[in-house]
Amino acid sequence: MSGESPQPMAGYSPADWAGESAQRWASQADRLEAQLVPVSEVLFAAAKLQPGEHVLDVGCGRGATTVQAAGLVGARGSATGIDISEGLVDEARGFADGTHNAEFIVADAQHHRFAAQFDVAISRFGVMFFDDAVAAFSNLRASVRGGGRLVAAVWQTRDMSELMETPLRIGARTITGLGHAIDLPPIDGGPFSLGDVEHARAVVSEAGWAQVEVALHDVSLHNGGPGSVDDALELTLTIGPLRMLLADLPDAVTAAVRSELHEEYARRHDGVGVRFQGAISIITAQVPA
Ligand SMILES: C[S@@+](CC[C@H](N)C(=O)[O-])C[C@H]1O[C@@H](n2cnc3c(N)ncnc32)[C@H](O)[C@@H]1O
Repeated sequence: MSGESPQPMAGYSPADWAGESAQRWASQADRLEAQLVPVSEVLFAAAKLQPGEHVLDVGCGRGATTVQAAGLVGARGSATGIDISEGLVDEARGFADGTHNAEFIVADAQHHRFAAQFDVAISRFGVMFFDDAVAAFSNLRASVRGGGRLVAAVWQTRDMSELMETPLRIGARTITGLGHAIDLPPIDGGPFSLGDVEHARAVVSEAGWAQVEVALHDVSLHNGGPGSVDDALELTLTIGPLRMLLADLPDAVTAAVRSELHEEYARRHDGVGVRFQGAISIITAQVPA
């Protein structure tokens, strides 16, 4: 696969994120934040933020990683979160209240022009949704000083993560068993658009970044964070590929899927939460000095 973008996927366009998709994300923000702590650990270990650095957090959502970055770079440094969703940025401003070196901007990161003012651009799952990924990564490169770096966490292709695949397969089996036809979404669309290693490398390289590396990591996640089977089911049925399959089907189908998933989730509950394996990539690169 080259740097050409995979087909856009319903629910994940910039326009969707500026509207309904962000509202869904916001409705599950606490569960998602708890679920994604292991991803942050891998991301920040790779970013190696230093006191005094200026950080851009791309697709910052509710701002947890922006606040974490602000803490790591300290008062001489800063963290700027950019997100296309006004609602999520409002939440981020509330979440970051009292963090004096964090600020937030509502804008499309594909087009918004910064000076080359950042030492590092980071992202936790905020760089997979651009209309034109090469143009977007090129724009991000222009916001980082020569010698500065990119450190972004993205999902590997969907088939690599039990977290995605298990509910989707159980859901698909239940839906077709009830007589409804479905098309499984592409394994490399939407959140998984940078999941193919060669494609990710090609996109970021074509955008003018140097020393592009893609490191693969398996993470162990609690679906929805520590909590009950019902917490995890609520998240699964509100966000992600299975929800897209159920979106236009009768409520009775969702109820049947929930009941089938319940058995699997109960089996996976480890006393803390419903545990799954997830497969992510950390993309790192540098702006040529
Ligand atoms: C999967 S969420 C991740 C949010 C956050 N980084 C986190 O880990 O909780 C993706 C985020 O990217 C944002 N986003 C999508 N397309 C964007 C764009 N073109 N410019 C800026 N933000 C964008 C969405 O609004 C959303 O907040």
